Amino acid sequence: MNSNQKTQNSKLPFVLVNMAMTADGKIATANRAVSSFGSTHDHEHLLELRATADAVMARARTVDSAAINLGPGPAKFRRLRLKNGLAGYNLRVIVSGSGSLNPAAEIFQHRFSPIIILTTGRTSKARLRQLRALADEVKVCGRQEINFREVFCWLRGKWGVKRLLVEGGGGLNDALFRAGLVDELHLTICPKIFGGRNAPAIADGRGFRRLAEALPLQIKSFKRIGNEVFAVFRRVTRR
Ligand SMILES: NC(=O)c1ccc[n+]([C@@H]2O[C@H](COP(=O)([O-])OP(=O)(O)OC[C@H]3O[C@@H](n4cnc5c(N)ncnc54)[C@H](OP(=O)(O)O)[C@@H]3O)[C@@H](O)[C@H]2O)c1
Repeated sequence: MNSNQKTQNSKLPFVLVNMAMTADGKIATANRAVSSFGSTHDHEHLLELRATADAVMARARTVDSAAINLGPGPAKFRRLRLKNGLAGYNLRVIVSGSGSLNPAAEIFQHRFSPIIILTTGRTSKARLRQLRALADEVKVCGRQEINFREVFCWLRGKWGVKRLLVEGGGGLNDALFRAGLVDELHLTICPKIFGGRNAPAIADGRGFRRLAEALPLQIKSFKRIGNEVFAVFRRVTRR
């Protein structure tokens, strides 16, 4: 690692990915009809994690496919955030390389904290205008693909994001794993099988091709609560 990379790394946020998956490693059914299947405890766990983060990030389809606002949730979690030394409401970051977002999505009905959209040069000028009317800031970072390393430094520098929680989906996670930007993976393993070759998994997209390239992780914690397993993996290599 050269000195430039070291300086850049110190400007990156700490990044956590949180996902619920079935026992066969799926995060939704093959037809995408079901993507929320954890227990109420899993949902509480998600809100507890959000209460540790300056910003929460998800991909556009995740955001506009359900009644999701990426906010902190009920008052007790806002109090927890304040106790953790954070603002009462987290920033919300939406990722869409193509800028395709439903303007009527639930998230835009809740203005409690800034909404930032990350996109690429693939988004047309007309669409950019539409997104700028919806969000507090639209950041174009990359021609075809988002340069997440650069944009994460920007999030930390401009918006003060020191801790970023990513909530998928699989394509977004894969891009972050490949860029070596994920510090912790929080997995809820739910006792179900979805099956289906086309059902999305934790990390879809391009993936790694060789064993030597695979991202090594260490188990940080592993516990059973009710009928689910809550596991936390952390990175072993420096980014
Ligand atoms: N069980 C869970 O915990 C969980 C959590 C989240 C989502 N899900 C489910 O998983 C399924 C898949 O999720 P999804 O389709 O929302 O997400 P996804 O698989 O992450 O979507 C991939 C998209 O993210 C954008 N993207 C990723 N990397 C990029 C890069 N480097 N540059 C630019 N854009 C990039 C692209 O958007 P564009 O197409 O706009 O270019 C790409 O098409 C859904 O059914 C969802 O509901 C489950």
